Amino acid sequence: MSPYYGMYVVIGLIFRVLEIITSFLKLNVVLETLEARFGNIIIGRNDDRPKEESPKDSVSKTEIDHMASLVKIWWNREGSAKMLHSFHQVRVPLVVDGLAEVGRIPKSDTSKQDCLRGVKILEAGCGGGILAEDLAKRGAHVVGIDPCKEMIELAKTHLDTESADLKDRIEYHLITVEEHAKEFAERYDAIVCSEVMEHVDQKESILEACVKCLKPGGSLFITTENQTMLAWFIFIIIPEYILKFIPKGTHYYEKFIAPVQISKIIEKYGCKTLRVRGFFYDRMSNRWSFIGNDDCNYGLHAVKN
Ligand SMILES: C[S@@+](CC[C@H](N)C(=O)[O-])C[C@H]1O[C@@H](n2cnc3c(N)ncnc32)[C@H](O)[C@@H]1O
Repeated sequence: MSPYYGMYVVIGLIFRVLEIITSFLKLNVVLETLEARFGNIIIGRNDDRPKEESPKDSVSKTEIDHMASLVKIWWNREGSAKMLHSFHQVRVPLVVDGLAEVGRIPKSDTSKQDCLRGVKILEAGCGGGILAEDLAKRGAHVVGIDPCKEMIELAKTHLDTESADLKDRIEYHLITVEEHAKEFAERYDAIVCSEVMEHVDQKESILEACVKCLKPGGSLFITTENQTMLAWFIFIIIPEYILKFIPKGTHYYEKFIAPVQISKIIEKYGCKTLRVRGFFYDRMSNRWSFIGNDDCNYGLHAVKN
């Protein structure tokens, strides 16, 4: 295990203690009162960018504009999106192991390169197509949808550089999940919504639409950031304010969500959480691994009744 994991555990413990003290002394209430009077006091906590009066579905124009500005860096595997490129090390196994666990693919096939052949996956919020391509390379047929025009164009342009076989198995559409669900209810074996929830205010709307697109017995996979002080420090303070390798305003603590909150929402729509797996990213080696706690970022697998 990497030495950075040791540091992560120590920092995690410190933040856990801080969280207990904060809730014991009800400091959140004090903070909210102060923020109501003076505005943001803790950096990266609240998204104070202007919000539209009536956003279209779960989509926020401010978020989409921000995503559009990231197009230039998206496919640079050594740049700021580096961790998204190496993320396949855990998010592809999350999907493969999950589908094997529910019997959608044989357990004996999981190490085969094309183990997802015949599996129809919707990637909700596919961005520039990094994960869609990773999943299609394992044999899946992937439909990638995203409300950001620049990202969908980028995904299509990148796919043009790939093999004919891959092109046959991926299609991209500029559409919201809610709109897509109206036409494609119960169509997919799996829905993958990766690193999207932290950019959405109306989480129930997008989650309901994702579940609607699933066939009964289908699997929902979500990866996102937990709403903890540790995640705030690791995903906002370090990358946006200290090391500055991702633009400020990419993430806000108030948009992070705990796995238990996701489970509660999807349960209303007939989906049961099967497993939550914590991830650890070692920036030095650019390696991801599964860990036993989900305090920072995690992958959730749920199954529709
Ligand atoms: C960080 S990117 C992740 C892209 C891709 N899933 C991946 O992991 O490579 C977040 C994506 O979510 C999209 N997005 C933001 N709000 C959304 C919403 N309400 N519904 C669907 N996608 C959304 C953005 O346009 C952006 O492309």
